[in-house]
Amino acid sequence: MTAPDPAFADWMGGIQARMESALSRLLPPAQIAPARLHEAMRYATLEGGKRVRPLLTFAAGELVRARPERLEAAAAAVELIHAYSLVHDDLPCMDDDVLRRGKPTVHVEYDEATALLAGDALQSLAFQLLAEPVLADDARLQLEMVKLLAVAAGSRGMAGGQQIDLEAVGQPLTVPELEAMHIHKTGALIRAAVLLGAACGGAPDAALRARLDQYAKTVGLAFQVVDDLLDHEASTATLGKTAGKDSRQGKPTYVSAMGIARARELAQELGHNALRAVEPLGPGARRLRELADFIVLRKF
Ligand code: IPE
Ligand code: IPE
Ligand code: MG
Ligand code: MG
Ligand code: MG
Repeated sequence: MTAPDPAFADWMGGIQARMESALSRLLPPAQIAPARLHEAMRYATLEGGKRVRPLLTFAAGELVRARPERLEAAAAAVELIHAYSLVHDDLPCMDDDVLRRGKPTVHVEYDEATALLAGDALQSLAFQLLAEPVLADDARLQLEMVKLLAVAAGSRGMAGGQQIDLEAVGQPLTVPELEAMHIHKTGALIRAAVLLGAACGGAPDAALRARLDQYAKTVGLAFQVVDDLLDHEASTATLGKTAGKDSRQGKPTYVSAMGIARARELAQELGHNALRAVEPLGPGARRLRELADFIVLRKF
């Protein structure tokens, strides 16, 4: 694997900037009532985050030459679900975190009830965006997209993975159990980001969908393995969130299950597998390949 080249950095910066302005436009203005809730939604979503899920949506969409304005709407929907998941993940009843994206968490900056409602409202707004006319050329496909995100966010996806995570505190999970937890709490939304990007170009054929699905599942798991590694190895300043919390809170992670060296190797293996899945897709899959490397090699 190689370090990202400058052209990739430019592409990434362009999508990140585009998403910042799209999200700012799509979120309710802070001045509109109920102002405190709208402020909290904006605080949770804007000015921060790597935007990995939108990057994956655009990368998959570029492969199928999807219209950028469609990709923007789908990517915003996924990022809003992600932002909501972080707000709730940080609540005292969950990971009880005070720092996120280098700022006080939403319940610290506002209050717990506002954080709860901001998460709820971000989730609703995500589905509102997927139902917008920009995605509506093919009503059946649009319904499938709504369902895809709903399943990814729900009890068989992210929320379910979060429940497994809470129940696992203090328990030494086996590697297959850990894998199941990570695939749900983090992998499901990453998979949705990729498949929604592809769907923005029209229903993908079965072979392409299978390749993208394999890619997405593999990078989704790699993403959380690296998150576990960084919690252990990186600093709070670099991460913008409290480092070292997993072991202090007795969370089973890939680091606790197999040690740093093996977890690092596994992340690299998963990265290779992701590259293999999209290899036959040719130059159009370039950004997907670059993102697989980025996800494994990232430092924050
Ligand atoms: C953190 O996600 C939570 C996990 C699902 C591991 P990210 O690392 O994508 O967080 P941001 O969006 O860049 O802050
Ligand atoms: C969070 O996993 C997964 C979500 C669904 C938000 P973590 O609890 O490990 O995420 P961080 O480390 O707080 O960002
Ligand atoms: Mg958590
Ligand atoms: Mg957490
Ligand atoms: Mg973590």
